[in-house]
Amino acid sequence: MCGIFGVITNQDIPIGKIALEGIKRLEYRGYDSVGIVSQHDGKLFIKKDAGKIDEVHKKLKLDDFPGKIAIAHTRWATHGAPTKINSHPHTNCSNNITVVHNGIIENFMTLKEELIQRGHNFKSDTDTEIIPHLIEEKMKEGLDFKDSIIEALKILKGSYGLAILSLYVPDTIIAVRKESPIIIGIEPGVATYCASDFPAFLPLTKTYYILEDCEMAILKAGEVEFFDMNTSEIIEKKSQQIEWSINAAEKGGYKHFMLKEIYEQPEALKRTLKISNEDIKIFAQIILSANDIYITGAGTSLFASLAGKFIISKFLGKYIQAIECSELKGQLTNFLRDNSVIIAVSQSGETIDTIEAIRWAKKAQNLKILSITNAVGSSITRYSDHFIITQAGPEIGVAATKTYSCQVLTLALIALEIAKLRKIEPESEIQNYYKALKSTPQIIENFLSNNINLIRKIVKDLEKHSSYFFLARGISIGTAKEGGLKLKEVACRFIEGYSAASAKHGPIALVRKGYPIVFIAPPDETYVRLIGNLMEFKSRGGKIISIVVESDKKIRVHSDMTIDIPQPADIYHSIFSPITFIPALQLLAYYTAIFHGLDPDKPLNLSKTVTVH
Ligand code: M6R
Repeated sequence: MCGIFGVITNQDIPIGKIALEGIKRLEYRGYDSVGIVSQHDGKLFIKKDAGKIDEVHKKLKLDDFPGKIAIAHTRWATHGAPTKINSHPHTNCSNNITVVHNGIIENFMTLKEELIQRGHNFKSDTDTEIIPHLIEEKMKEGLDFKDSIIEALKILKGSYGLAILSLYVPDTIIAVRKESPIIIGIEPGVATYCASDFPAFLPLTKTYYILEDCEMAILKAGEVEFFDMNTSEIIEKKSQQIEWSINAAEKGGYKHFMLKEIYEQPEALKRTLKISNEDIKIFAQIILSANDIYITGAGTSLFASLAGKFIISKFLGKYIQAIECSELKGQLTNFLRDNSVIIAVSQSGETIDTIEAIRWAKKAQNLKILSITNAVGSSITRYSDHFIITQAGPEIGVAATKTYSCQVLTLALIALEIAKLRKIEPESEIQNYYKALKSTPQIIENFLSNNINLIRKIVKDLEKHSSYFFLARGISIGTAKEGGLKLKEVACRFIEGYSAASAKHGPIALVRKGYPIVFIAPPDETYVRLIGNLMEFKSRGGKIISIVVESDKKIRVHSDMTIDIPQPADIYHSIFSPITFIPALQLLAYYTAIFHGLDPDKPLNLSKTVTVH
């Protein structure tokens, strides 16, 4: 969704260049227009237009701004088309207040009509534009600038992360947050930054503060003060340190972030294996004592949840229901019982549908929210009773890759802790599961070093097919769906992940001679039935590509091509195949995008962090 980056410094540095580089580091969030405003000598300088940052920069020289203070914005269109006029920043009638915004103002239509009646002129179709006008209106009532903002925001319904630059307070940026993330970075005594996410200022400083809901930050060069928007009182906050290395948000020699992040999986998994056992234990105990257990998320996080529910249920001996977050309220109204648990999975921790689901559940019933996220300080952590931060590190590619495998691994760690607590298996057996889980980084590393040519060959073979299936049974259905999602989002191919058993109830009608079907076939309890499904497609002329373990004998015989997943003797276990099989599908998506000349890091219409319903 939208990206915000603000900078205020006392150094003589090219402010436009800093603003441009900062907002470029948020490109991954997805956007369709860009704008920057700076202030110098009592004047505001604004440049904005629709298009990618590089295109707009070519036209407007986005690195060329005077002054020592600027805010930049990338807009992902919601209210109003992606046009120059709708791009942020937006201004008031007197053009002395500029606002950039991430979020949605739900009551903007009514407010806009009222403001028009009071003589305000609007230039855009956006919800955001009412904010500078409302502040202007409050200034007319005689309030100072800070109180005008506070009073104006009280009228708004919806969500916002805001950065405001105004001639009323020329040496200040004001940042405000309600349900849309804003973090503050600081180089004490030198410069202060505000941003929607850490990568924006990661190369500039590692010291940060998190702005909580209904808080305001007043940024001066190298200083920041925080206020409670409800009481106007000062809040004392402690700064924290970002643990990521500066190059975590750089491509580091890879052509795309997506490829880099696929290759980072072994290290990301090794770090995630080291998550504090105390945290894992808390999750395990709460899940063990709950009446009903639900797991929820969106997109890739939902598919990680599908895998996780299988793994946890196996050791828990209770059914866990996976529900898409946007459906959770609809499906559980009147059915949610006290002493239930909702496990919420979200890479960004900011997906509004996931957050809304858990906030609703918490209000509706006396239950526990356990969340798994990759983002320290994200909203989801605030709405949860307990949370675990996966150790994938920053994921810049829009396509979730390393965060998926780390989410599944975290859920697997919880499952094994449950097994330990329940003592359902002999200790030695549980230790074997741990060994198998701990071998997943090595399996992926071996796979990634040996299979690129094969994957490229398969991509070439599949080149003329704009549709095919990933079919699977049991725990691998989530893997198939995740593979289908990757192909759709980065390669713009309608490839569907589907249940192999269900495929004969409809999708099989698509099969003609040479129609490709990819079977995900770990050697688990579904294996024999999966062979049956495979034969149904083969006998109708389907071209069979199978993803199997190295030692596989049967499926290999019936397949036109196979992708082999390494299977270390003794310690392999198929229950962890959602982790070890997924890199094959991620690479298939990546190289299909490359083959078709698409940029896998910038899928059309997509946003890394979806903060609208
Ligand atoms: O940040 P979240 O995990 O909550 O995001 C949920 C989905 O938007 C996300 O997984 C999306 O499907 C990915 N871009 C898929 O690669």
